[in-house]
Amino acid sequence: MPGHVEHAAASQDGWVVVDAGTVAGFALAERKSPAGAEISWMAVDRPRRRLGLGTLLLNRMLGDLSADAVSVIEVKTLDRSSGYEPYEATRAFWERSGFVQVDTIDPLPGWPAGNPAAIYVAALRPTR
Ligand SMILES: CC(C)(COP(=O)(O)OP(=O)(O)OC[C@H]1O[C@@H](n2cnc3c(N)ncnc32)[C@H](O)[C@@H]1OP(=O)(O)O)[C@@H](O)C(=O)NCCC(=O)NCCS
Repeated sequence: MPGHVEHAAASQDGWVVVDAGTVAGFALAERKSPAGAEISWMAVDRPRRRLGLGTLLLNRMLGDLSADAVSVIEVKTLDRSSGYEPYEATRAFWERSGFVQVDTIDPLPGWPAGNPAAIYVAALRPTR
């Protein structure tokens, strides 16, 4: 996994949240079209979760992307039908942050079999 992050970090826009002088989380976004982007990676240091740092990071990232003409943002995560408990927090975070699940894709190209993908989107401004 770290290899993937390094690759993405070299070619995508990245943000970090700093807390008590150390990096507590990061996020990467990939532009998919002039007005569309995907959050490709995001994580907060486990002991520092649930303190609002993810929200701080997300709000800054979405603000910057919106200022750079992005209107719609996507994120893919593990669908609830997987029954995998650790991702309940992840989906709760996206849903609490205003993301709407618009699809479930299984198998998603590039993802290992047995990992149903939940496709979430959020509007940063009206598109019509
Ligand atoms: C998803 C993640 C980035 C959230 O970061 P965070 O700093 O903990 O998020 P916040 O503290 O800003 O949480 C904001 C809200 O999300 C929801 N939420 C976050 N974690 C939750 C949990 N474990 N259970 C239920 N709701 C949760 C809550 O509504 C929370 O608000 P509240 O604490 O006032 O109730 C973090 O859990 C993480 O790194 N997870 C592992 C990696 C991951 O799943 N990345 C995303 C891949 S798509």
